[in-house]
Amino acid sequence: MTGGAGYIGSHTVVELSLAGFHPIILDDFSNSNRSVLDGIERILGTRPETMEVDCRSHKALSAAFQSITARHAISGVIHFAAYKAVGESTKHPLKYYTNNVGSTSELLQTMGEFEVANLVFSSSCTVYGQPDSIPVDEKAPISVAESPYGYTKQVCERIIRDVHASNQPLNTALLRYFNPIGAHPSSHIGELPLGHPNNLIPFLTQATAGLRDPLTVFGDDYPTEDGTCIRDYIHVVDLAKAHVAALNWLASRSEACEAFNLGTGQGNSVLEVIHSFERVNGVEVPHRIGPRRDGDITAIFADPAKAGTAFDWSCEKSLDDALRDAWNWQRALQS
Ligand code: NAD
Ligand code: WQD
Repeated sequence: MTGGAGYIGSHTVVELSLAGFHPIILDDFSNSNRSVLDGIERILGTRPETMEVDCRSHKALSAAFQSITARHAISGVIHFAAYKAVGESTKHPLKYYTNNVGSTSELLQTMGEFEVANLVFSSSCTVYGQPDSIPVDEKAPISVAESPYGYTKQVCERIIRDVHASNQPLNTALLRYFNPIGAHPSSHIGELPLGHPNNLIPFLTQATAGLRDPLTVFGDDYPTEDGTCIRDYIHVVDLAKAHVAALNWLASRSEACEAFNLGTGQGNSVLEVIHSFERVNGVEVPHRIGPRRDGDITAIFADPAKAGTAFDWSCEKSLDDALRDAWNWQRALQS
């Protein structure tokens, strides 16, 4: 699991272990903290096997694959490792192209050399931009990318499709995540945004905890019922479980290369999220209405039917569950 120490990766380590897999984390800890390994250990009772690897380095990846294949048959690779801050990617595009595209290309090369075919790739609903109709399914066209970050996801999907079409055996699920939120219900792991959070939930929880200025709602003049943007917020544990299901699906295929939307199928506005958070947690979220944020789309939510059928998977947790777990995680971080 490249990037396995990150937010989505750490939750997936837990679910894979519970499902009987032996996950091995390859991470350079550029956007995560080793304390996440303690959190995983507290949940599972065992420490996950971890290797410090920069996936941009072919040499480092090869050494890791060499060491792993000497002991285990690799059932698949889940490629989470990437930088993910949309705003930063517009200021430092090369950082994003080098890491996100470079790591994917080096990883595919290494997988070919070690004859590992099964790949689960972390893509994003950002590839759709503002779709013509919602809910959006996988047949919707890929739009012109709004940011270098978004473009790296499109390029990586394309690279994977090109390798799949070549002679290298590759069996891939391209998972297009919508908006992952929440934390493990144990509060032992969750999202650890380093620095100023850009995403809604980490900013909301930090603002509610008094660590930040009040939350700014980016625009209330969108053509939606309450004027604020609509997104599909999926509990990170449901998302993690989809990775287990995707690996099992790959095991029953030999040369797949398919995209899957991973969302709840439900859209919620920013104000709905704030009001639900207040109701569920019995707290007030300090917030004010501000101007629109550049590049925001009005509304998107998933049609997750394809993943539901192929993976025999569906979301089990509600928005309320995610908001409760997000707040408990914030409080655990401060205690
Ligand atoms: P994260 O930053 O928490 O995790 C990414 C992990 O990758 C971190 O632990 C980081 O240290 C590691 N990493 C980065 N570059 C690396 C490299 N060169 N070599 C080794 N490790 C490296 O992010 P996340 O939220 O867990 O996201 C995981 C994946 O899902 C990313 O590819 C991201 O683009 C994608 N994604 C995330 C979201 C979201 O909202 N969180 C939505 C859609 C897609
Ligand atoms: C959610 C909603 C904001 C912060 C991003 C990436 C996307 C994908 C998911 C990786 C929007 C509003 C936010 C704030 C606000 N990531 N908001 N005040 O923009 O849907 O998508 O994460 O692939 O690529 O772009 O997520 O959490 O930033 O915003 O009002 O302080 O909350 O306008 O409507 P977004 P987000």
